[in-house]
Parts: sequence; C-alpha cells; structure tokens
Amino acid sequence: MWWQDAVIYQIYPRSFQDSGGDGVGDLEGIVSRLDHVAGLGAAAVWISPVYVSPNADFGYDVADYTAVDPAYGTLEDLDRLIEAAHARGLKLLLDFVPCHTSIEHPWFRQRPEFYVWADEPPNNWLASFGGTAWQLDPSTGRYYLHSFFPEQADLDWRNPDVQAAMTDAMRFWTRRGVDGFRLDALDRLLKDPELRDDPAETDAPVLPLQPEYGRLRHVHSRNAPDIGTALRAIREAVGDALLVGEVFVATADLAPYLEALDVAFAFEPMLANTDVARLRSAIAAAIDTEKLGWVLSNHDFSRFATRFGENARAAALLFMSLPGPLFMLQGDEIGMVDGPGAHPPLDRTGRDPFRHPMQWDSTPLGGFTTGPPWLPLVDPQDRNVADQEQDPDSELSLYKRLIGLRRQLAGIPRFLDSPDNTLVLERGDHLVAVNFGSQPLTLERPGGLLAEARPGDGADTLELPAHGGWIAGP
Ligand code: GLC
Repeated sequence: MWWQDAVIYQIYPRSFQDSGGDGVGDLEGIVSRLDHVAGLGAAAVWISPVYVSPNADFGYDVADYTAVDPAYGTLEDLDRLIEAAHARGLKLLLDFVPCHTSIEHPWFRQRPEFYVWADEPPNNWLASFGGTAWQLDPSTGRYYLHSFFPEQADLDWRNPDVQAAMTDAMRFWTRRGVDGFRLDALDRLLKDPELRDDPAETDAPVLPLQPEYGRLRHVHSRNAPDIGTALRAIREAVGDALLVGEVFVATADLAPYLEALDVAFAFEPMLANTDVARLRSAIAAAIDTEKLGWVLSNHDFSRFATRFGENARAAALLFMSLPGPLFMLQGDEIGMVDGPGAHPPLDRTGRDPFRHPMQWDSTPLGGFTTGPPWLPLVDPQDRNVADQEQDPDSELSLYKRLIGLRRQLAGIPRFLDSPDNTLVLERGDHLVAVNFGSQPLTLERPGGLLAEARPGDGADTLELPAHGGWIAGP
C-alpha cells in the first residue's frame, strides 16, 4: 500500500499560499508550492475542505459537496491541482465531511428528511463545542440535531437516501482522480436510533473535551455500535481509495471503525504530549491496534512545536521513527508555533492560533500574500522556509532527514527500559532514543549516527543530551 510509512502533509488552504492578493490562500497557490511538499519527502497532501461553505466552521460546514468555493478557485483549478500533485508523485486526499452539512446547503430546506428533527429537544445531548445539540429552526418551529455548531446540521445516516447522496459526492471526486479522503468526525456519524439520554460522566476523559461537553458520557449521542454499516457503504463507493478516519475516541474503541477504514488518527499518542509515561503507553497501544496513523498536529489543536516546546525536535524524531502513516500540518517542518489568533476571534472555539499563514520567507507577509492576510503572520523573520532551506541544522533540514530515514527503518518497534523522561525504542537493527528531561544521560549508541534531534546530539557516543535524541544503526 502506498500509504504504509507515508508522510501525509495537511494543507489548510486558507493559510497555505495566496495567489490572488486577497489575503486568503487558494488552489493556485497550493499548486505553486507543491515542490516544497515533494521536496520534503511527503507522499501525499490532504487538503482541508475547499467546498462551497459559508465558513461558520471554515469549510467544515459544507453547502455544496461537489463545487469549489470561489474563495479558493474553481473546479478546473482543483483538477489542475490533482494533476500537478500526480505529476510530482504526490497523492491527493480531500477532506470529506459526512456527518453534517451547513444549514445553507439546499438539502436543509429541500430534503428535511435528510436531517434529524424533533418537536421538542428529545434528550440531553450536547454539542462538542458546548451547549445543547438541539437547535430551534424558527421557520418550522422544530428542533434539529447538530453535533458541532448550530450552523452544522447533522445528517441522518440511517436514511438510505442520505447514504446514496453522500457516496455519490465521493464518487464524483474519485472519478476526478482524487486518491482518498480524510473523513471528518466519524464518531458522530451514527447515533442511538432511540435518542436516549447520555449518562453523566464519572471518569476523567481519555481525550481532552470541551468542559461542558465532557460532563456527559457520550454513549448514545455518538459512536453507535452499527457504525460499520455506514462505513461499508462509503468503502463500496470509493473502491480502494485511501480512507483515513478522524474518530475522536480512545484507541481501545477504534476497532469497529477500522474494519472499513485504512487508517484512523492516533489521537492518544498525539495528545499525551510530553508526559513520557503516557506517551510510551499510548504509542505502544497504537502500534498493537495497527492501522493507526501518527499525528504531529492539525488545525484543531495547539501546534506541535508549541506542545512540545524545547523537546519538539526530539519528539519529531520519535514520531518519525514509528511505522505506519504520519500526518503533519503545514508549518510543522519549520517549527511554527501557536500565534495570537484574531481579535475578536474568527473561530468561535478558539482555534485561530493554530491556523496562522505559512511562513515562506522572512518578509513581513512571509511570502504568503501581497494583500492583508486573513490572519496575521506570526514570526516569518524568525522562521521561514527560505532561510531554513539554507541551514543544515534547521528544523526543515531535520524533517527532510527524518522523512528520508523513515523508509529505511524496518521491524516492529519495541520500547526498552529506560530512565524517567526518556524513551528508547528498538526497531530491528536501529535504536531510537529521546530525552525529554533537562539532564543529559549516559546511553551507549550502537552503530553509526543516522540522525540527531539537535546539532551535536550525537557528538559523544555515550551521551543522550537533555531535550535531545538520536537514531543510530548500522
Ligand atoms: C473535525 C474538524 C474540525 C471541525 C469538526 C466539525 O473535528 O477537524 O475542524 O470543526 O470536525 O466538522
């Protein structure tokens, strides 16, 4: 399979490259920057939604699944992007949002039976962003279900016409040459058909949740046991296209999704951050589960370099040395950090800081645009692609080395016993060691040095420096 051990590069189109000077990234801009992605050694790009959208959730509220939003270009531009990616040996994944549509999608009025309606809120279900999951529609006087923003009405996937309409839309894209899909919010696709109340949560959540939402244990409002029926319909529609699921549940609960998907994001390891004991057990569980893909960061969470701070280079070395696909967000490769966001916020749930424009060069607008950017640039003078290209010790050079090396690592990884704050992983003839602590340790490096997290980390064959790491092998 082409995605085995592949690095899949997430492009957040609004913030990648603007070609028109309006301050919003677009498809033509992506085409102009594909050489950077190919040069990094990535195998594929996943582009966050570019469908027609009123942008209540920046593209994740879709008003037409088979048309490109004019802010990003035209359908022909997307065809050109697919072609340009393929010409560079890159696969292209679209982000498909099956769980809900925008309330401005024509279906919301023309096909009300596609959605979940009630005369009164029938239960205590909550939206992931907080508040009740039931919204009064003033024009009908009825309530509709929304798992996210009220502008995102949940589709009723138990209705065969919904399945047919959505799988038709996916086929529209596979026919145009798309190689796969990242499937949004799959744990919200199927709910309890009896709409029973969710009970109160008594345990700490395994994955971080919005506090109000986390007060309930979501056993009925999501994650229905018959999810396989919907996913099998999707699989049948797309043949062997790659299906990557965003399923925000504990690793232990992913099995029913993985029957039809090729990959699901490994969120537990991603969100363990620098808690080394948690990270180790989350990685080990994900490896045992199989079919999971590592995530450095995405558009919903604090950026990789911010979450790992001074350990970011060592953490990148660790994740890159694991088997299976790996997903990174544009800018991770230059160590982009969270920014100030916008005031007042554009995203109502506070995710602007993770979505600042890509920094291509050291000019004030970072080479991203010539117009006023939709979100400000953070620090292009301190980190940008052009400067890091020239510097063998930069993050960008490290990422390129690690992506190249990844393909040479074979064998199931096995954690060896190691001191607190360190992880030591054996993969076949290779040894991967990282130290998230602030004290250097003595650890013999077997074989030659293949990569070092920070310049100089491999200078002493007995040392594992503080906040450092290396990959060694024959
Ligand atoms: C996914 C997306 C997120 C979006 C939500 C609702 O979690 O990654 O950005 O807000 O689904 O579609």
